[in-house]
Amino acid sequence: MNALGTLNLLEACRLFCPETPFIFTSTNKVYGDSPNRLPLVEEEKRWELGPEHPYGVHGIDESMSIDQTKHSLFGASKVAADVLVQEYGRYFGMKTVCFRGGCLTGPAHAGTELHGFLAYLMKCTVQGNPYRVFGYGGKQVRDNIHSHDLVEAFFQYFQTPRSAEVYNMGGSRHSNCSMLEAIELCQEISGKKLNWSYVEDNRIGDHIWWISDVRKFQSHYPGWSYRYGLREILGEIHQACA
Ligand SMILES: NC(=O)c1ccc[n+]([C@@H]2O[C@H](COP(=O)([O-])OP(=O)(O)OC[C@H]3O[C@@H](n4cnc5c(N)ncnc54)[C@H](O)[C@@H]3O)[C@@H](O)[C@H]2O)c1
Repeated sequence: MNALGTLNLLEACRLFCPETPFIFTSTNKVYGDSPNRLPLVEEEKRWELGPEHPYGVHGIDESMSIDQTKHSLFGASKVAADVLVQEYGRYFGMKTVCFRGGCLTGPAHAGTELHGFLAYLMKCTVQGNPYRVFGYGGKQVRDNIHSHDLVEAFFQYFQTPRSAEVYNMGGSRHSNCSMLEAIELCQEISGKKLNWSYVEDNRIGDHIWWISDVRKFQSHYPGWSYRYGLREILGEIHQACA
C-alpha cells in the first residue's frame, strides 16, 4: 500500500508537475531491526549507547544499512516507497526527499496502543485507562519531534529543494525519552498516576534504542531549528486530552 500509493503519486507528479518538490514521510523502520545490534548499555531508566560509539553522541545517521534486516511488512513497504522516491530523484532529476522519521507527534496525534506512543500514554494517564509496556524493561528509547518542527523542516526543503535526498528526522538528542521516563513525565504533568503493567515479550522487531542524528538536514538547511522539546510536546498533548 505504501509502495503502490507512493508510486502512483510519483508517477502523477512526473507526468503533470515534475518541478514540484516531492516530500515523503518515510520512517526509521526502513533500517529494520539493525539498531538492535548496537552495543547498548542498560542504565537505571534507559538503554543507552556510549559516546565512544559513532552513533553515541548525536544518534543514528543515514549511513546505517537498510538491507538484510527484519523490517516488518509495514517497514518493507516503506523501504519500497523510500527507494522509489530516491529513484525518481536520481533517474528523472525530480526534487524528491525521504524524511525518515523517529516518533512524529503533537497535540492532534491520534494515539492508539500500537501507534502514537506519547499521545496514547498521556491519554491513558489522564483518563485512568490501563497501559501495557511491551518488553525491554520499559527502558526502550525513542526520539520525539513535534509536528510543528517537522512541518517547518518540510517547508525549509520546499523552499530550496534538492534531488534524491534522504534525511533522518526526529527529536534527536534534543528530545527523547525511555518508556519509564515518559511515564514519569506524563504523571508529573498530569498530576495523575498511570495504571501500567509490564508484558515480558517485546513487539517483533521493535527498536530498543532509536535517536535520530539530524545533522545532515541541519547542515543542508541551517535555517531550521527546534521550537519544541519533550516537555513542551507532552504539555501540549496533555492540554489536548485533559
Ligand atoms: N507518527 C510517527 O511516529 C511516524 C514515524 C515515522 C513515520 N511516520 C509516517 O508519517 C506519516 C503520517 O503518520 P501519522 O503518525 O501522522 O499518522 P496519522 O494516522 O496520525 O495521520 C495519517 C493522516 O493521513 C490521512 N490519510 C490516511 N489515509 C489517507 C488517504 N487514503 N488519503 C488521504 N489521506 C489519508 C489521515 O486522514 C491522517 O490525517 C505516515 O506516512 C507514517 O508512516 C509516522
